Amino acid sequence: MSAGFPEVRPRRLRGTRALRAMVAETVLRPAQLVLPVFVKEGIVDPRPIGSMPGVVQHTRESLRKAATEAAEAGVGGVIVFGVPAEKDWAGSGADDPDGISQAAISDVRAEVGDDLVVMADLCLCEYTDHGHCGIVTDAGDVDNDATLERYASTAVAQAQAGAHMIAPSGMMDGQVGAIRKALDRAGFAAVPICAYSAKYASAFYGPFREAAEGAPKFGDRATHQQDPANAIEAIKEVGLDLAEGADMVLVKPALSYLDVIRRVADTVRVPVAAYQVSGEFAMIEAAAANGWVDRDKAIMETLTAIRRAGASVILTYWATEVARRLR
Ligand code: PBG
Repeated sequence: MSAGFPEVRPRRLRGTRALRAMVAETVLRPAQLVLPVFVKEGIVDPRPIGSMPGVVQHTRESLRKAATEAAEAGVGGVIVFGVPAEKDWAGSGADDPDGISQAAISDVRAEVGDDLVVMADLCLCEYTDHGHCGIVTDAGDVDNDATLERYASTAVAQAQAGAHMIAPSGMMDGQVGAIRKALDRAGFAAVPICAYSAKYASAFYGPFREAAEGAPKFGDRATHQQDPANAIEAIKEVGLDLAEGADMVLVKPALSYLDVIRRVADTVRVPVAAYQVSGEFAMIEAAAANGWVDRDKAIMETLTAIRRAGASVILTYWATEVARRLR
């Protein structure tokens, strides 16, 4: 090829599996994976979710089992989504000490202790009858500051139930500061916050809304979730959350926002998490079911890409399965 220089042949380092493994830049560890789990109040048997093959709404009992399996596989954590039997305008179940999320958190803690990081997703959309993430005004808007009070008391209830980490996902302005203050006042200064800082108004949450029964009954979430067109705004959101006391920040969804994950990871000095959301899961499962993609390879490729982009923690519905494969 070029005269005078040794030939550069990148393929030399790709010749065997061992060579490729030796030079792999990106490594996935089971402890970096977090399993999202749904637990539904008052059901007797786990309920399959049509749009998420293999994922269920758990009973309290089946959730304990799933948590044990995750811990045994070496998964890093679980994030708990409660689905209450009754909903109302204020989302009363969210901060009820006996509410489903709190019950599930204490069940999981009783089962796995500190072997998993038990994270509590904090939002009202699963608990409100209108399906919005907060208190809705007569005009139909989500009232930011009235919602913060609900988030603050919910965070305290979740910490009291034993959550190791609180993850507010509602995208209200000031939510991290309000929650931090409430946790500190209630004696939970040691409980960290993983802020869903850059959460986009995404089409990829569709299957989740079936799983968590939290689709908005009117309107959408575009007044609080971020516009997919914006990346600089994500950096602004992340900066605000860190100033308010976030210990980790999260980008969501993952695959359509790898550039945002990278920019955030290059900007902050805290761990960055990314959420491979329900629609990302469903796309691969559906394509694989049709024989259109190799399921296992597609799963590993997407997770590796999310890690490569700069996420050190990944929330994925495949966490237990992938953790087993990595061991
Ligand atoms: C609730 C919440 C959503 C998701 C996580 N927390 C949905 C939404 O904002 O509508 C989506 C997760 C997924 O799609 O897997 N605020």
